[in-house]
Amino acid sequence: MLEGRVVIVTGGGRGIGRSHCLELAAHGATVVVNDLGVGVGGERSFETPADEVVAAIEEKGGTAMADGSSVSDWAAVEGLIGRTVERFGHLDAVVNNAGILRDSMIATLEEAAWDAVIDVHLKGTLALTRHACAYWRAESKAGRTRAARIVNTTSGTGLAGNVGQAAYGAAKAGIANLTLTTALEGSRYGVTANAVSPVANTRMTSGTGFAGTAEGTFDKFDPANSSPVVAWLCSEQSGWLTGRVLRVDGNTVHPVDPWSVRPGHAAAGGGRLDAAEIDAGLRVVMGTSPAGLPGLSVIR
Ligand SMILES: NC(=O)c1ccc[n+]([C@@H]2O[C@H](COP(=O)([O-])OP(=O)(O)OC[C@H]3O[C@@H](n4cnc5c(N)ncnc54)[C@H](O)[C@@H]3O)[C@@H](O)[C@H]2O)c1
Repeated sequence: MLEGRVVIVTGGGRGIGRSHCLELAAHGATVVVNDLGVGVGGERSFETPADEVVAAIEEKGGTAMADGSSVSDWAAVEGLIGRTVERFGHLDAVVNNAGILRDSMIATLEEAAWDAVIDVHLKGTLALTRHACAYWRAESKAGRTRAARIVNTTSGTGLAGNVGQAAYGAAKAGIANLTLTTALEGSRYGVTANAVSPVANTRMTSGTGFAGTAEGTFDKFDPANSSPVVAWLCSEQSGWLTGRVLRVDGNTVHPVDPWSVRPGHAAAGGGRLDAAEIDAGLRVVMGTSPAGLPGLSVIR
């Protein structure tokens, strides 16, 4: 499905990103495995997980390259696009997957935690998207429009919120929205943009009860479960789909509807709304409880 295609995967050294890299390579893609090798909260370490993934791909006869840039380093990410094109001749897809976690209740949230989480997830996704789009737009202007693909990573928290995850949820919601704008702009030069919302047992979710599948049965929380969807999204075949979030829950892929505006209460007097009518008017159109997102309340 991906023979001849070149794909960059950020945070590809561990967890879900590692699974994406192996799946993409199994489908014939050349994979650029980006990973800074940090701890779950973004703490510096001397680990180089991208090298291990490159070795695993090469052992099976595939082609891969490791990269240790931080996704939120604007200039380094621009360099990553340049090195990829220089080495492999072109770039076809980017998978924005790198992430960190610094959970805190809002009342005790530290400024540094907010900045770090927004920096890696939201700015990191934008940085690679921005430089990849500049490359694809230039290619298109030169008469070489590519079947280019951007795959972002949002989460249940980004779609529905979660206690203790204000920064993470805001970043992931931002990524879902960034996917929409990228899809609208990218359609002019051959780029589609979609996002996946995975669920997996990784170091990021240890302690959340995601593990525990009985031996011998399908593992609902295997980090590789969303990788087939990512492989398809990186392929030419997926060109008909753009601007969507796909929730991958175990072995099921669900399209997620974007924010939608429901039928509302119109001012009874025909002019501006009157504060005195809002309570009763909204209770009629919404019911007495706020509109929830059924089925999304226990996901990350
Ligand atoms: N695990 C889940 O259930 C789940 C659910 C929804 C979304 N996600 C998202 O999936 C993605 C992967 O998460 P995971 O569970 O595999 O976590 P993980 O911690 O196993 O992997 C994340 C990887 O990103 C790398 N990374 C962190 N900061 C980086 C940076 N600045 N530059 C480059 N690489 C960096 C880390 O070194 C790590 O290898 C994240 O975006 C996460 O928010 C995970």
